[in-house]
Amino acid sequence: MNSLHWNNAYSSKRVHERSWSESGASDSLAELISSEIGKQDAIIDIGGGSSTFVDSLLEDSFTNVSVLDISGTAIDEARHRIGLEEAKVSWIVADVLTWKPQIRFQYWNDRAVFHFLVDPIDQRQYVEKVREATKSGSHIVIATFSPEGPESCSGLPVQRWSAEQLSALFEDFCTVVSQTEYNHVTPWGSTQSFMRLHLKRN
Ligand SMILES: C[S@@+](CC[C@H](N)C(=O)[O-])C[C@H]1O[C@@H](n2cnc3c(N)ncnc32)[C@H](O)[C@@H]1O
Repeated sequence: MNSLHWNNAYSSKRVHERSWSESGASDSLAELISSEIGKQDAIIDIGGGSSTFVDSLLEDSFTNVSVLDISGTAIDEARHRIGLEEAKVSWIVADVLTWKPQIRFQYWNDRAVFHFLVDPIDQRQYVEKVREATKSGSHIVIATFSPEGPESCSGLPVQRWSAEQLSALFEDFCTVVSQTEYNHVTPWGSTQSFMRLHLKRN
């Protein structure tokens, strides 16, 4: 998994040709609404790519929003789409595993990124990154393919997760708020089974 792969994935396919594109408001909004996050709280969309989650955050007047992605091409696409308002967002082109967070975030969102980490060493490194970049009371929302979901995405293998398996990785510092299984409908009408886990840091 590297930036070349993902830059190519974004530059060679248009929005409606990418399986992960959403047709309406992002799934990621569901947990944000229930989490009582303040408008000035620090929110980060991990592997946000060109997701429209950030557009909704700006529309809802959240003022401390960051989007991190390994693909500069994806980030450029999002910035271009947003226009002038993009200046209100902190854009970070980095691999989440090696990124050095400068602040602690109250809200960590990951839709369809963690499941690309198939090596347990990388999975542990990700968990440590969550620990480093959040604080007591922070919300952590991670959506992955469920055990019934696809075995690969964008030509890469994925690891599928149940809520029990995923929450076990975080059990020493987080409590489960909710777990939701849902279907994502791809732009060409097929369904992908997802599991979204909402955790709160102790
Ligand atoms: C399936 S897409 C999902 C994009 C976005 N979260 C959404 O919901 O539309 C996976 C995203 O993860 C990014 N990504 C993959 N590995 C990454 C890593 N190690 N660090 C940061 N971003 C990564 C890719 O560039 C891509 O934008």
